Amino acid sequence: MAYAAGVDVGSTQTKAVVINEDREIVATCLIDTGANVTQAAENAFRQCIETANILEEEVEWVIGTGYGRYKVTFGNAQVTEISCHGRGAAHIFPNTRTVLDMGGQDTKAIRLSANGEIADFCMNDKCAAGTGRFLGASASALDIPLDDLGPTALQSQNPVQISTTCTVFAESEILSWLGKGKKVQDILWGVHESISKRSMGLLRRVGIEEEITFTGGVSRNTAMVKSLEKALGCKLNISDQCHFAGALGAALFALDHIQASRLPQSKVEEATS
Ligand SMILES: Nc1ncnc2c1ncn2[C@@H]1O[C@H](COP(=O)(O)OP(=O)(O)OP(=O)(O)O)[C@@H](O)[C@H]1O
Ligand SMILES: [Mg+2]
Repeated sequence: MAYAAGVDVGSTQTKAVVINEDREIVATCLIDTGANVTQAAENAFRQCIETANILEEEVEWVIGTGYGRYKVTFGNAQVTEISCHGRGAAHIFPNTRTVLDMGGQDTKAIRLSANGEIADFCMNDKCAAGTGRFLGASASALDIPLDDLGPTALQSQNPVQISTTCTVFAESEILSWLGKGKKVQDILWGVHESISKRSMGLLRRVGIEEEITFTGGVSRNTAMVKSLEKALGCKLNISDQCHFAGALGAALFALDHIQASRLPQSKVEEATS
C-alpha cells in the first residue's frame, strides 16, 4: 500500500495529513508553526507518520502548501494554498461551490466550478483585521483561552459594535469597552460580527454560491460559524477535518501524482492530449 502526504505550513499552525490509495485519511497532525518553519514542517510530517504507524519510505510523494511551503525541504513539490483548500474542501463536502478559509493571518474566499476547479478567488490584503489574528489579539486582551472564544461570545445578549477594523487598535477599543462596563461576551460577539462583515466582502467579490464550506482553524470557532451563517442566511459546511483542508488537498494532489506515474506511457499520452 502506498501513501501520499500533504503538509500545510501556515503562518500560525502547521498541519500534516497522510492518506492511503483509497483517499482515506490515515493520520493528521497539528502543531504551532513557531519561529523555525522548516522544523515545524518536519515535526508535523514525522508525527503524522508515527500516528499512521507506517514507514517514511511508504509515503511515495509529499506536497507542501501554505505560506511556508518552500520550507518543506523533504517534500517533492509545492502547490498553492488556494488550490489545496479548494481541493480539500471539495473532497470533504463534494457539493462545495464556495470556500471560506480563515487562518491565522489570511482570509481567502474561493469559488469552485461544478467540477471542483478554482473559478475565482480573493484574499485580504496584508491586513489581519478579518482573520484569526484579530481574534487572537482580542482573546489575549480579554485574557480568554482560544478554545473559549466561541462559547463565550455565544452567551452575548447585548452585543457591542466594534468600530475599529485594525488589529493593532482592537486591543485599546476592547479595553475601553471594558472600562465602560460592557460584558466580555458582548464585546467578543462584536469582534466576531466585525470579522464576519469583512469576510462577507471577500465572499461577495468571488460570488456566493451554495454549498459554502468553511475551512482553516477559525472554522473551529462556533461563534464565528454562527455569525457568518447569520450574515449569509444559510448553513455552512463544517467538520473536524476542515482545519486540515489545505493539507488534505495537498495530499490528494500528491496521490494524483503517484497514480499518474503508474500509468503506462500510452495512457499518460491519452490523459494529457
Ligand atoms: N480550537 C480553536 N478554537 C478557536 N479558534 C481556533 C482553534 N484552533 C485554531 N483556531 C484559530 O485558527 C487560527 C489558525 O488557523 P490556521 O491553522 O488555518 O492558520 P494558518 O494556516 O497558520 O494561517 P494562514 O493560512 O493565515 O497562513 C488561529 O490563529 C486561531 O485563531
Ligand atoms: Mg492556512
